[in-house]
Order: sequence, then structure tokens, then C-alpha cells
Amino acid sequence: MTDTTAPYDVLIVGTGVAGLTLALRLPATLRIAMIAKGPLTEGSSLYAQGGISAVLDAADSVDDHVRDTLTAGAGLTEEATARFVAEHAPAAIRWLVDAEVPFSRAEGEAADLHLHREGGHSHRRIVHAADATGRAVETTLEGAVRARENVTVLEHTMAVELITERHTGGEPRCHGAYVLDRRSGRVRTLPAHTVVLATGGASKVYLYTSNPDGATGDGIAMAWRAGCRVANMEFNQFHPTCLYHPRAKSFLISEAVRGEGAVLRLPDGERFMAHFDERAELAPRDVVARAIDHEMKRLGVDCVYLDISHRDAAFIRGHFPTIHARCLEFGIDMTREPIPVVPAAHYTCGGVVVDRHGRTDLPGLHAIGECSYTGLHGANRLASNSLLECLVYGMSAAEVIPADCAARSGRAPAVPPWDESLVTDSDEQVVVSHNWDEIRRFMWDYVGIVRTDKRLERARHRVDLLAREIAEYYRNFRVTPDLIELRNLAVVAELIVRSATARRESRGLHFTRDHPEPSADPAPTVLTPGYR
Ligand code: FAD
Ligand code: SIN
Repeated sequence: MTDTTAPYDVLIVGTGVAGLTLALRLPATLRIAMIAKGPLTEGSSLYAQGGISAVLDAADSVDDHVRDTLTAGAGLTEEATARFVAEHAPAAIRWLVDAEVPFSRAEGEAADLHLHREGGHSHRRIVHAADATGRAVETTLEGAVRARENVTVLEHTMAVELITERHTGGEPRCHGAYVLDRRSGRVRTLPAHTVVLATGGASKVYLYTSNPDGATGDGIAMAWRAGCRVANMEFNQFHPTCLYHPRAKSFLISEAVRGEGAVLRLPDGERFMAHFDERAELAPRDVVARAIDHEMKRLGVDCVYLDISHRDAAFIRGHFPTIHARCLEFGIDMTREPIPVVPAAHYTCGGVVVDRHGRTDLPGLHAIGECSYTGLHGANRLASNSLLECLVYGMSAAEVIPADCAARSGRAPAVPPWDESLVTDSDEQVVVSHNWDEIRRFMWDYVGIVRTDKRLERARHRVDLLAREIAEYYRNFRVTPDLIELRNLAVVAELIVRSATARRESRGLHFTRDHPEPSADPAPTVLTPGYR
């Protein structure tokens, strides 16, 4: 990789399930570069447990999948998008089966996939590979991509900024990205006819999260700075059940455990979910997370307990081998005792506004997967609809990108190199680490599961101050991975706070004490950057 690299046809920023699917669905005639900020497989996709939703059972139907998605989305899911995704789900699963993803099979029925049930689903429709579905899909697709000669994978390479007409002149368009090679510490240009953001979510903006460290909303922030609209950023999904243990950093206890009969208990053993919702433990995540939050605050306790110990031990070990083993590492035997759990930030329902093929507002720029806003998740994502969205939009983006690339061939503008003439190495790295902590803490305290006008105002005040401080720091010092992520986290925090402040009602994942009722005419929160 040099500064004089000829433009790639496609630059895919991100190597999770969305990015890998796209790379494999594009024709082998295209020159593709993929970048990942760490090792190829490191991203939320690798850690997905429960599975992928798809209508595969004769008793189930696309209409039911659409209805469940709309119900979870609490009035803000676009029905046409939900139908598009649900209709394409079986073909996406067939594609993965053909790629030899080792999905779990129904007992004694070698040909049939075993289907789990999860909260909010009216049928068993979750295709899975035991309780490590993401790892099975991600590593299978990784193997296939690494075998492709037309795909160059650049690991430990971090996009800093998109190259647009602001750098090159001409009509609004994305022309590639400036990227930091983490090993050499140098920023280089990576020009491309089409850039696809597949950078995952932004849950790292919260102090407690189920997500890996890289989930800092880089794609959302870069697209916003490049002039693209973002939508529904107030809807942050908190997963109800992350393992509560001082040494267990972000380990999820899959919703499928509740799907297989686990119940939630208070420290004295009492069940409580039925007081909050008739679906009890199988209510959608926002309901369960809020109920747990309520009980923890009411009783002043650090966690509640998830109990599946009434089920047969062999069944538990067979269905949840990863969770069982991980809990045992912390001295918890889930076949015999309840698991201590707390809610944690899990999924970013909002993102960069895209059309049915992942096209953003900026020509030459697509967004797919968790960083995008397709209209599927509305005010709350239905479990296991995310990997599905990654697959379906990876496939639909691949339908239009080849023609876009052909139209751009031979028309790439000259791209100026990254300008470091005015910056020096920082001697105050503490500013970056302090601000990282501060953002994540005030977002958790003020913009978390339960919000109020006052808390949002406090968060707004802090985010404004931090944004100014970070902008000044960015102008003066050489970029580092931590600084790049901090700058993006500050943008994402601001977008979340602005969106939450604009929504003067409670709906789905956004609950505010000052406006507890849903409004009669809900609409998505669409933010437009001042730049365009
Ligand atoms: P990711 O898989 O997060 O990948 C992001 C990629 O972008 C990475 O390669 C990263 O290196 C790269 N990247 C980011 N920023 C930059 C940058 N600046 N420069 C270069 N590269 C960058 N969903 C389901 O549907 N079913 C489940 O069972 C399920 N379980 C989950 C369990 C856990 C613990 C978690 C955290 C999530 C789960 N989800 C599940 C959600 C789902 O896994 C994610 O939404 C989905 O995997 C996102 O995929 P993605 O391809 O969009 O991004
Ligand atoms: C889980 O296994 O509980 C996660 C499923 C999801 O996030 O869709």
C-alpha cells in the first residue's frame, strides 16, 4: 500500500458479516480492498451467539416474521423494509449453508436446521451454530474471502476520514479514504471508485456494553462528517442479560437461554417479569431491560439472576456450550445455579440513512450492516434480525456496485496526500484517555435505559465541551487509534443526545420520564448535517 496506489474498484471498510458478505457477492473481476482496524475477525459478528432469523418452518410465515419485526419496532419499522428482509432471509441462509457454515441440525433430522426461539418471535425461527453462531459464520466467510485473489485484506488498518470532493474538488462524491496503518503509524490514501462502510455499531459510547472494543461508531461519524444524513440514533438497544462478574468483560448470556425456558429472579429467588409484561421473560428486550433496571434500582442491588437450572444438564451443555464453559471459568455452574446478569448497551438501531442497496446520500458511498439505517429496526430491533440485515444488504449492495464502478472507471481525480505539516506528537495522551472515560460514563448515567430532559441537557452540555476540546486536540496532534475513536465517539454521542432530545415521547428503546407516553403520529428522527 503506497500513496500512489491506483484506485481500487471497491474499498470495504469493515470485515464483519456485512463486509465479508459483500466481498464474496461481488464479481471476481473487481479489484477489492477490505480494511479492518484489528485482526480480520474482530468485530461484533464474531461474538454473535443466538443466531439468524429466517422463516424455514412450514408452520411459520414471512407475514409473521414481518409482524414480529413491526411489533418490536414499536411503530417506527418500515413495513416494506421488513418484508424485503424477511423475504430474502431463506435465500441468505441457503447461501450460508452452501458455504458450509456448520449450523446446528435438528436431532435425528440431518437435513433440517435446528431452530431456536427468542424474545419477540412468535415462532421458532433462529438458525444457529450452538451458541456461537457469529464465530461459525464469520470464520467460514473469512476462509472464503482469503481464498479470493481479487480481494486484498489490510488488517490493523483504520479509516481516519473519507476522501470527498472537499479534498479533490468537483461534484459531491466519495473517492476513497485516508487510512492509518497501525503498524507503521503512517496515514495513507486509499482511493476507490466505491467505498462501503461496514464498520458496525457504536455501543462502546456506553460504559457497559456487550460489544468488543472497536464498536466506536467510526462509519457513522465519518459519513456524518462527509455530509450524509443519519437517523434514529436515540434507539440504543440494551441487552438485558450480560454476565455480571468483576472479571467478565462484556460477556453476553444469549436471549436463546430465555427462549429455552430460563427465568429471571431477584436476589431472594422471586420471579418478577410477569409483573411487567404478560410475555414475561420472552417480552422484547427493551421491556425486559427496563424491568431489570427498575428492580435493580428499587432494591439497590447490583444484578438479578437468570435461572435455567431446572432444565436437564446435558441439554444445557449441548445447547449452550460456550456460555456454560465461560460461566464455569468464573465459578458459576449454570446447570445447577442461576447466573448473575445486568443489562448492557448492545446494538445501535440508528445509523447512516441508506436505500435498498445501501446507497447513502453521497454518491460513491454505501453503508451496510449495523452502521446503516435501513428502516428495519424502528424503535427496537427484533433479536437475530441484525446478522440477517448484514447478509441481505451485503447481497443487495453487490447487485448495484459493479455498474457504479464501471461508470467511474478512468475518472478518478487526483487525491492529495494526508497533510501532517501542522501537527506534532502529543505529549498529553492523558487527555484522550480521560475524555474516553468521561463520554462513556455520562452517556451511561444520563442517556441510558431511562432518560429525562434534565439528564439529556446535562449530557448535551458535556458533549459540547468535549467536542471542542477534541477538535482542538485533533488539529494539533498526530492521529493515533485512540484519538480517531475518541473523535468518532464524541460525534456519535452528540448525535444520540440530539436525537433523544428531539423525541418528546417514549417509544421502544427510548424511555423518558418526562414524556412517558407514545405520541399519536411517530416518525423517525432524521438528522441532516449542516455541511450540505
Ligand atoms: P461488525 O461485525 O461489528 O464488524 C465491524 C468491522 O468494521 C470490523 O471489521 C472492524 O474492524 C471494522 N471497522 C470499524 N471501524 C473501522 C475503521 N475506522 N477502520 C477500519 N475498519 C473499521 N445479532 C444477531 O442477529 N444475532 C445474534 O445472535 C447476535 N448476537 C450478538 C452477540 C453479541 C455479543 C454482540 C456484540 C452482538 C450480537 N448481535 C447479534 C449483533 C450483531 O452481531 C451485529 O449487529 C453484527 O454482527 C454487525 O455486523 P457488521 O458486519 O455490521 O459489523
Ligand atoms: C443473543 O444471543 O441474545 C443476541 C441476539 C441478538 O442480539 O440478536
